[in-house]
Amino acid sequence: MFVVVGVSGGIAAYKTVHLVRLLVKGGHDVHVVPTADAVRFVGLPTWESISRNAVTTSVHDDVARVRHVALGQAADLVIVAPATANTLAKMATGLADDLLGTTLLATTAPVVVAPAMHTEMWRHPATTANIATLRTRGVVIVGPEDGELTGGDSGPGRMSEPEVILDAALAAAERGSTADLAGLRVVVSAGGTREPIDPVRYIGNRSSGKQGIAVALAAADRGADVLLVAAHVDEGVLASASAHPHVNVVRAGTAAELQAAMGAAARTADVIVMAAAVADYRVAEVSESKLTKDAASGRGITLDLIENDDILAGLVRGRSDGQVVVGFAAETPAEGESLLERGRRKAARKGTDLLAVNEVGWSSGFESDVNEVTILTAGGEVVSTVQGTKRDVADGLWDAVISTREKNVTKR
Ligand code: PMT
Repeated sequence: MFVVVGVSGGIAAYKTVHLVRLLVKGGHDVHVVPTADAVRFVGLPTWESISRNAVTTSVHDDVARVRHVALGQAADLVIVAPATANTLAKMATGLADDLLGTTLLATTAPVVVAPAMHTEMWRHPATTANIATLRTRGVVIVGPEDGELTGGDSGPGRMSEPEVILDAALAAAERGSTADLAGLRVVVSAGGTREPIDPVRYIGNRSSGKQGIAVALAAADRGADVLLVAAHVDEGVLASASAHPHVNVVRAGTAAELQAAMGAAARTADVIVMAAAVADYRVAEVSESKLTKDAASGRGITLDLIENDDILAGLVRGRSDGQVVVGFAAETPAEGESLLERGRRKAARKGTDLLAVNEVGWSSGFESDVNEVTILTAGGEVVSTVQGTKRDVADGLWDAVISTREKNVTKR
């Protein structure tokens, strides 16, 4: 594949050297296009020796071969890493005052961008608006991650690791720039519900919302109109969804609130995905005041729990013609027990069109950036198995939804 790697002027440029190396090792023909500021961090000899191709920042070199558009025209994939706030702004407005700018305007290839900047710059409304604009044009945004930044700061703004960018970029190239979910209305739940015990305490779970939000973002990037029903989620993760022009976010605290939001949204949805971790039980009598130790007088306390409705089962019962309902199954199989068999039993019980079965535990499923799912039909047939980042899993899930919709049309 002919890959253009744009590099803008941030310290994370040193990590892009490794990204270029991974691409070259993968057999790709890599052309690095640094900005003038980028070469103050990593010089031309490094880019040339790592990419094994000539590198320039100027539109005036190699004019006879129309270099200012030739790279963009030839590209199968363009990656910009790191993308500074300035480069994002230039991309959003279509500025082409250097070779990277002209290359980006001349390309019809998928564009994958890995932003890197300080948290304040990332959260600035101008950057948020620029990211939103780029997403509407189908640009895939990878990260940034929450972590250590230069100068001792920390927070969202750290460029994703080269391996993560590579995976997202190769997946984008494989998909091409088609919007295969365009015109679909999609409702996705994400995060963990919280059932109050008293005004200060709740029963909750470890869902960060990463998987559900990846499902919502993947759908939006592929052209769908998305309603994200967010139970408790990590705010940094939610920010990327809130910034997406095709994602509307509504918040839901308890299972009952989530049920009401999903029920209302389901009426006009083409596809429903329940990725939220919903509490199966709630406290029978929520105390209006904080429970105190005195009241228990050292004997411990007992909470009466009552069962919540199964929201997913209700959505399956109310499924309209042609609507596809997808659930997730979070399983902790005992030693020697088959995850697949547990998944199959749940698929039969829930009756969903698709059920994404994932193993969860102390260090898997919840909170992590990676996941592995086996996607089953209600009859227990394995549609696919997807392993990788939560975004990879999300894209695999949407591929399965598309083939389910196609099968439904053929049956009618
Ligand atoms: O959020 P992350 O940290 O990224 O973690 C991702 C995840 C592990 C939470 C996600 O991948 C996942 O598995 N979500 C579903 C969690 C869950 O509640 O699984 P379950 O097997 O208990 O429930 C099966 C299905 O029924 C789910 O679609 C769930 O949303 C739904 N359900 C469950 C209980 C209930 N009362 N009503 C429901 O609708």
